[in-house]
Amino acid sequence: MARANIILTGFMGTGKTTVGKLLAKYLGYLFVDTDELIQARSGQTIPEIFREKGEAAFRRMEADIARELGGMERLIVSTGGRLMLDEGNAAALGANGRVFCLQATPEEIMARVTGDASVERPLLQAGSPIDRIVELMQERTEGYARFTQILTSDKTPEEVARCLLDLYQAD
Ligand code: S3P
Repeated sequence: MARANIILTGFMGTGKTTVGKLLAKYLGYLFVDTDELIQARSGQTIPEIFREKGEAAFRRMEADIARELGGMERLIVSTGGRLMLDEGNAAALGANGRVFCLQATPEEIMARVTGDASVERPLLQAGSPIDRIVELMQERTEGYARFTQILTSDKTPEEVARCLLDLYQAD
């Protein structure tokens, strides 16, 4: 699987984009962030898409992108938190890719998503974001468990990227 893509999944704020960019640099692969691609193509931010077109329309855009990227190689793909939990998307992207799931605690996720004002997460616009994080994480635990899990707590993004690189190259 030498030229297979690396697909990063996991909950919002687990570091997929930061780690993905490092991996792309180490391997000389192209980095793709599915949220950024959707925003660039639609000319709208994710919150605008959710607000004006609805979540279902956003999920259809994710599905189109999963199919498109599944046909390419030498990519590092950082996926939106729910994209790989859809079976069709996972089959399309997983066919030519090693999938890794980044994990963090709800508290770490809360700190990262509130510390990053540049990215608004419509699914966390709740009365109590930490409760919503815990609730969504519980709903998704089983889905994420299908992929190789990487705990990011107490690791720098460089350490997480190195760990993924070792796993990828061991194949
Ligand atoms: C979502 C995660 C977000 C983005 C959208 C929905 C989710 O991406 O796709 O807000 O359902 O988990 P990140 O995981 O990159 O924050």
